[in-house]
Amino acid sequence: MNNILGIGTDIVEIERIRDSIKEFQDKFFERICTEKERAYCFQHKDPASPLAARFAAKEAIAKALGTGIGKTLSWQDMEILNNREGKPEATLSPEASRIFHHPRILISMSHCKEYATAVALVTLNDE
Ligand SMILES: CC(C)(COP(=O)(O)OP(=O)(O)OC[C@H]1O[C@@H](n2cnc3c(N)ncnc32)[C@H](O)[C@@H]1OP(=O)(O)O)[C@@H](O)C(=O)NCCC(=O)NCCS
Repeated sequence: MNNILGIGTDIVEIERIRDSIKEFQDKFFERICTEKERAYCFQHKDPASPLAARFAAKEAIAKALGTGIGKTLSWQDMEILNNREGKPEATLSPEASRIFHHPRILISMSHCKEYATAVALVTLNDE
């Protein structure tokens, strides 16, 4: 229990993400996602849903770390990739990881027709 540093949650309207994709096209994906995340989103027939889930997950991580998304922690400082079983795993860029003392980040995401949501748990890394 003492190893838990923070929790965060977020919910996103997928339609708003779809609007941003329409307005800013690739620029929006490039702002929010890393190259590997973009490749994963574009495997889906509706990339707005996995993008919305990753958007929510990054906001949840930013809340769990306590900074929000901005100068200290950018969208590109967080990467969410799925393992072979499909479980999402979050990592920080080397610089952000150093700033936040190399935490371990656990996330869970979900999306339905209208909403995407995510929770994040940040713990000390005892490895
Ligand atoms: C912290 C952040 C993630 C909040 O997200 P949001 O979508 O603005 O708002 P949400 O409704 O999801 O969350 C609001 C809650 O976050 C919590 N919160 C705010 N700042 C926080 C912080 N530094 N750490 C943890 N939680 C925080 C608060 O509880 C707040 O609710 P309250 O004001 O009623 O207490 C946000 O400040 C942020 O960094 N957003 C990035 C926005 C951005 O870059 N958008 C451009 C998209 S291209």
